[in-house]
Amino acid sequence: MPRLVVISNRVAVPKARGVAGAQGGLAGALNSALKANGGIWFGWSGQETAEFTGSINYVRSAEGVTTATIDLETQDVDEYYNGYANSTLWPLFHYRIDLTQYEREFGKGYERVNQRFAESALPLIDDGDLVWVHDYHLMPMGERLRSMGVKNRMGFFLHTPWPPTNLFVSLPYHERLVQALLHYDVLGFQNDTWLESFLHYCEKELKADVNRDTGEITLDGRSTIARAYPIGIDYDFFTAKGEEGEARQAQQRLMSSTRHRIAAIGVDRLDYSKGLPERIDGIGRFFDRHPEHVRDFVYIQIAPPSREDIGSYQKIRAILEQKTGQINGARSEVDLVPIRYVNKGHSQAELYGYYRAAKIALVTPLRDGMNLVAKEYVAAQDPEDPGVLILSRFAGAAQQLDCGGKGALLINPHSPDDISHHIKLALDMQLDERKERYTNMIATVRDDNVQRWTENFIADLGGEAA
Ligand code: UDP
Ligand code: G6P
Repeated sequence: MPRLVVISNRVAVPKARGVAGAQGGLAGALNSALKANGGIWFGWSGQETAEFTGSINYVRSAEGVTTATIDLETQDVDEYYNGYANSTLWPLFHYRIDLTQYEREFGKGYERVNQRFAESALPLIDDGDLVWVHDYHLMPMGERLRSMGVKNRMGFFLHTPWPPTNLFVSLPYHERLVQALLHYDVLGFQNDTWLESFLHYCEKELKADVNRDTGEITLDGRSTIARAYPIGIDYDFFTAKGEEGEARQAQQRLMSSTRHRIAAIGVDRLDYSKGLPERIDGIGRFFDRHPEHVRDFVYIQIAPPSREDIGSYQKIRAILEQKTGQINGARSEVDLVPIRYVNKGHSQAELYGYYRAAKIALVTPLRDGMNLVAKEYVAAQDPEDPGVLILSRFAGAAQQLDCGGKGALLINPHSPDDISHHIKLALDMQLDERKERYTNMIATVRDDNVQRWTENFIADLGGEAA
């Protein structure tokens, strides 16, 4: 098995791991992929400096993963991370053209940082290594490395959706970005919907040859394979968390504090793509329709802050706080608060305990590449008395967890009525049906795990899977 060089903006730096936080799905998945396969993980340290130096900081974790990180200068963080990556590409890729900012300076910062990343990563790449680049921050990386003479096999995986062509073309210089992507040997998407949008763009806008059977895209004599590789959780690692005292204590704490009430849970980075205000509206509607449940139902929202320097994130936080406050103000009693809103991150062991104690999970993004929280919730359930997963049809995970209508309850996250109706269905669902749905979902959560995702991608990239 050749050595892996993984490159992503966010890196789970060992000293920061274990700290409760919201590093998101990418960091956890890549940590698992590298634990199993070895190799090196290059990216941003998360630190800002006045001036870019390019000096690399190496850390080897107890799990055997070596991270190599660089600091970015403040202007880079503004224009590349807060700018092009998270104020242009992220909203556009989540179909939020209304929030998408097209600033020239952002585009320049994105190009500059991709060049800096490529120059810094270059000395780390040996002949025969497989290079695997991740996510929307670093789409031009492959082309940059090729222009510096890198001949290694290189793959790219997009953790977000890929938008429909008629939205994507609103991006200035959209052709350039996709032409750069076609310098990779393998392109991976979370599911067939995003893959199909990408192939459609290549065909219609770039006039590339696209073979729908093999996913091969040919343009200007170069060929790239594009396929769907749905990401999964590290099932064994996550379920082992359930054995830890921290998980048991978290479960106990939640159960004893909610005693005669049924707890529903949501765990999301505080991001407008997660449908949080819409979800709170759905819960408000549920209390309006079913006042008899005000005393026996409690909703717990864990929402660690994310990308706090960006205006749209500050705004979504204010809206969420206002809506939660309104419902709690109208519905609370001295001994009862219907919505508990927790604005901080938790460890995976704690989350395991909370998931297990909650009889319902609400995972209702307006758009999501995959959504690993949905899979973690299923993995944490008691097979003898499992909870119910209410899942947005617009999450990538819905394609796997629908299970022919016998898995998660799929909902429209824009509709408070639909959310309210499905909370009631979940509350009334009998044990037999809950078990049947759980049994169907756990099979894919357990088997289509992060190890399988890595193996499938690496096999196509040209290495033997571990
Ligand atoms: N997470 C965490 N602590 C928290 C909240 C979330 O460790 O307080 C983790 C969660 O367990 C999951 C990941 O962050 O593994 C979120 O991944 P997901 O795919 O659901 O969404 P993303 O944040 O990547 O958009
Ligand atoms: C999503 C993105 C990742 C990102 C994560 C956390 O999962 O796909 O690339 O790392 O969110 O966001 P952050 O901006 O804190 O890295």
